[in-house]
Amino acid sequence: MPNKSHFNSGLKALNKQNKEGKKHSADIDNIDVQKTIHAFFIEDAVSILERIPDNSIQLILVDPPYNLDLATWDTFDNYLQWARQWLDQVYRVLSPSGNCVIFGGFQYQDLKKGDLLEILHYTRHNTDLRFTNLIIWYYKNGMSAHRFFANRHEEAVWLTKTKKYYFDLDSVRVQYSPEQKKAALRDKRLIPENINKGKNPTNVWEIGRLNGNSKERVGHPTQKPLEIIRRFVRSLSYEGSTVLDFFAGSGTTARVCIEENRHSIMVDSDKKTLDYFEEHIKNKGEKLFHKPYEQHVNMELERIFDLIKDANRK
Ligand SMILES: C[S@@+](CC[C@H](N)C(=O)[O-])C[C@H]1O[C@@H](n2cnc3c(N)ncnc32)[C@H](O)[C@@H]1O
Repeated sequence: MPNKSHFNSGLKALNKQNKEGKKHSADIDNIDVQKTIHAFFIEDAVSILERIPDNSIQLILVDPPYNLDLATWDTFDNYLQWARQWLDQVYRVLSPSGNCVIFGGFQYQDLKKGDLLEILHYTRHNTDLRFTNLIIWYYKNGMSAHRFFANRHEEAVWLTKTKKYYFDLDSVRVQYSPEQKKAALRDKRLIPENINKGKNPTNVWEIGRLNGNSKERVGHPTQKPLEIIRRFVRSLSYEGSTVLDFFAGSGTTARVCIEENRHSIMVDSDKKTLDYFEEHIKNKGEKLFHKPYEQHVNMELERIFDLIKDANRK
């Protein structure tokens, strides 16, 4: 079956626009970020979400409980009834160029009801969010199995508020090997300039899971690798914009936001988040962050948005 994108009129129009050096209507002007602000709230996700202003967030990046009984926070009688309380706020708080990424998985054995499939079904039928991509996180390390094929992937859904969502593909392109590059340059359908920039990482991402002895580990039981979070932060938000993670866990998202010059709002009902985050900072080494940053805990939300505005002022 041919790849539909090769014949897609939208893609052709984009290529033409790029050649003519014209901006896409969803492009954002550069912001001069003096420092970044990182606010932590030890609180329930829904209670804080209800107080976040409309259109104020560029990227919501969440790794919610999976309903797999992995921890005390991971058990629900009615997962969807709980999830819809925060899903119903997502559209409102996102800016018009905003994106939302929700990690999760599918519960194959039907032991319990409530997983990413139900979340996606709910957003599709009950919200105005647009489903843009399903990203498959593929890894080689995992448990073996005898009565089914051993599982080697998890998923993340990418939803947008409008058609004018922000997406910076160039920031996450993957470099071609010399042989691949030669072959790509012979393919008349591809644009040489884009080949030099690197290739689209596609929606299947091979990134290793964190082993027990991984250097990245800070002690949280379900910590995500920095690389996967970085790809979303880079491509779906821009410097000086605000990223919200209301199931922050160890604060991996905030750590990446510091490195990538984004502001962040982190929420977790467990106060251990602050200790895990301290470990993240120790791992990186404070001096290695290239711009100054401020961390605030349980500060008034209004004050946080003022600080963000000030930090972005030229
Ligand atoms: C899957 S973990 C997130 C891990 C994170 N991605 C990381 O890299 O460290 C989910 C987190 O959600 C938190 N959580 C569960 N229910 C919550 C709620 N109602 N409000 C806020 N946080 C909650 C848990 O304490 C847990 O740390």
